[in-house]
Amino acid sequence: MTEPQWLEAWTAEDGARRVDELFTRSFDGSPEGVWSAPGRVNLIGEHTDYNAGLCLPTALPHRTFIALRPREDDQVRLVSAQAEGVWEARLSDIAPGAVQGWGAYVAGVAWALAEAGHKVGGFDAAVDSCVPFGAGLSSSAALEAAAAVALDAVAGLGLAASDAGRAELVEASRRAENEIAGAPTGGLDQSASLRCREGHALLLDFRPGLKPLESGVPVPFDLATADLTLLVVDTKAEHSHVSGEYGARRAACEQAAQLLGLGSLREIAPTLGGIGIDRALTELEPHDPDGVLRRRVRHVVSEIDRTARFADLVREGRAADVGPFMLASHASLRDDYEVSCRELDLVVDSAMAAGALGARMTGGGFGGSAIALVRLSDVDTVAQAVAGAFADAGLTAPAFLLAPPSAPAA
Ligand code: GLA
Repeated sequence: MTEPQWLEAWTAEDGARRVDELFTRSFDGSPEGVWSAPGRVNLIGEHTDYNAGLCLPTALPHRTFIALRPREDDQVRLVSAQAEGVWEARLSDIAPGAVQGWGAYVAGVAWALAEAGHKVGGFDAAVDSCVPFGAGLSSSAALEAAAAVALDAVAGLGLAASDAGRAELVEASRRAENEIAGAPTGGLDQSASLRCREGHALLLDFRPGLKPLESGVPVPFDLATADLTLLVVDTKAEHSHVSGEYGARRAACEQAAQLLGLGSLREIAPTLGGIGIDRALTELEPHDPDGVLRRRVRHVVSEIDRTARFADLVREGRAADVGPFMLASHASLRDDYEVSCRELDLVVDSAMAAGALGARMTGGGFGGSAIALVRLSDVDTVAQAVAGAFADAGLTAPAFLLAPPSAPAA
């Protein structure tokens, strides 16, 4: 039998101690404080954020910690337990295309806050994290969100105190990722890390112009009382959003929306006065000889619908019934959106065969992680079955995480 490898979340005390020590060892004196932010899993609503659609994430118990102290000048100095050396830049030198490396995710947030008119100065900071890196669990958004709440606190902006303020921190984090780190992602990850609530999923609506109350609605998602848990499987299959495939999917969606004369694919929905999926597909046909655009559109439109229906079930306290939506989402991402891979499909198939109620890839895809909804009494059986299936297939051993819906950046 292949024993699954479990990845435990650090306690808040442990995380704080680690970054406090790293800070003190790297810079003179103590940090002004320690802040942290979670990674996320997306229950459903994949590749919908940049289509003005719906997503339904929860925050992971696994967090990125940052110890930070403001400086008198505009220098930024960063150290990480996961990287060699000191990352350094002057705030005034930070601009799209001007900085490289992991520090761009932190310094980019300071840049974006300044761009939004906030007064932010230089700082020294130390970071450490138990969010697995490159696993599709938003380690980069956790880093941005941790930096965002830390800078918010030391600059006295007060944005983290309200959901509307947090939506502004989301925007700064998203701009850091898009414009400074250069990854064309859509805002799901930053919203999850900054706006999710413990014991809740967050129904995100990415239509432009919505008020915070409409763009992010917490939905109680108390898995433990339903005797359920969310099992996350990091397949260890490599994935990267800076590489071309993610951008190519996004570009295809934008092209399809443009051909249909729409601002976004969300506007296809008849409930929003749109033409509906059948007519949209017919209108695209002459422009789409190989059918690729139509498959992409079919995924996005059906996924937004599944997300709304999944959220309704959760609201009704019927979390145990969402499995079929998870499977339909996975099939759509695999066949129509073509962002799954052998390892993700294997998690879904082996978890279902071992008794999971539902399973799907989560995040951008092309590797990364999958989730399974599992009865508490079946967790070990399912994890062992997945670990065994990977061993039998000669694949790198995956890592397993438990993901009770956890608290946002603070
Ligand atoms: C990545 C991106 C998100 C989102 C998902 C797919 O996680 O960062 O913005 O597009 O992929 O749902």
